[in-house]
Amino acid sequence: MKLTFASAGESHGPALVAILGGLPAGLTLDREAIDADLKRRQEGYGRSPRQQIEQDRVEVLAGLRHGRTLGTPLALVVRNVDHKNWTWGMAPWAPEGEPSGKGTKPVTLPRPGHADLAGVLKYGHEDVRNALERASARHTAVHVAAGAVAKALLATIGISVQGSVVDEDGLRTAIDEARADRDTVGGVVEVRADGAPPGLGSYATKDDRLDARLAFALMGIQAVKGVEVGDGFALASLRGSQAHDEIRSDRRRDTNRAGGIEAGISNGEQIVVRAAMKPLPTLMKPLRSVDLATGEDATALVERSDVAAVEALAVVAEAAVAWELAGAAREKFGGDALEDFVAAHAAYIERIRWR
Ligand SMILES: Cc1cc2nc3c(=O)[nH]c(=O)nc-3n(C[C@H](O)[C@H](O)[C@H](O)COP(=O)(O)O)c2cc1C
Repeated sequence: MKLTFASAGESHGPALVAILGGLPAGLTLDREAIDADLKRRQEGYGRSPRQQIEQDRVEVLAGLRHGRTLGTPLALVVRNVDHKNWTWGMAPWAPEGEPSGKGTKPVTLPRPGHADLAGVLKYGHEDVRNALERASARHTAVHVAAGAVAKALLATIGISVQGSVVDEDGLRTAIDEARADRDTVGGVVEVRADGAPPGLGSYATKDDRLDARLAFALMGIQAVKGVEVGDGFALASLRGSQAHDEIRSDRRRDTNRAGGIEAGISNGEQIVVRAAMKPLPTLMKPLRSVDLATGEDATALVERSDVAAVEALAVVAEAAVAWELAGAAREKFGGDALEDFVAAHAAYIERIRWR
């Protein structure tokens, strides 16, 4: 059984949507838990006033009845409240009436580090907005909603996932300083998963490797430029005798430099991954660019933007890891009904006598 995820939605369009396939029937979902994660994503030090406009809440259009999954595709919607200011500029159909609100004038000043230049060249757009609207991280909202669903599934087999910012205090100081300088910063987030049994993922093919899947999922998040599993880059400068986690007679480890994954398979220890986020590309003191309308030197677009989104990234990365672990668990334990999934997990734990 494979989990599938498809999403659509522009940053200032009417809504973000996601369709989740492959969930078992009978999983109880808690609307408040999903909304709480959506709120966590919106909060965080250094975010822009957009977050005060949006009040992200999940709506479910299909796949759920009376709070329990039906085993059919689960359709989720998160509306963009800000769309009311963009009804002409982001109208899906040819807009009627005089231009009004935001997004009425084409953007022609690409920002270094954003999707703007490569996006318009690739797709043949004249208005940079046609590229930046989807490239924007706004649609991570539905990824977070999917992550909350994944966490509910993982909880049924005792797995929990938690994201956090590495050096949060230092980061907040850096954000204050960057805001004062009208600049932006990045940072590092960490996700830890507890309770994963040995055996999620496989060495059989590269697509099966759990470390590869987690890296792909994390690198798929906007502005993530580096990923490490366990001690990652630091392992490169150690000797083998210092780098590996010795195995005790109870098959557990005293150290966890591997981050809970060996040969692409969870080994029963805590899963630990980190992601590095670059400084956000929209700058209040813009970098050098070109005006695509005239071909003249110019400075890049300035628009409302976060100083940092690292705390939000911790929530998005947590969702990404939860989704991948849930996918690996679905592949390992299968089941159309939740009871089958839980029973397969219990039988496996019994077979390997894992405590
Ligand atoms: C949660 C989150 C919020 C973000 N907010 C902003 C923002 O306000 N301004 C900005 O310029 N980039 C923001 N970004 C980063 C851009 O979306 C990203 O840099 C851009 O899409 C280009 O993609 P790349 O950095 O992966 O190359 C955010 C990223 C994340 C994950």
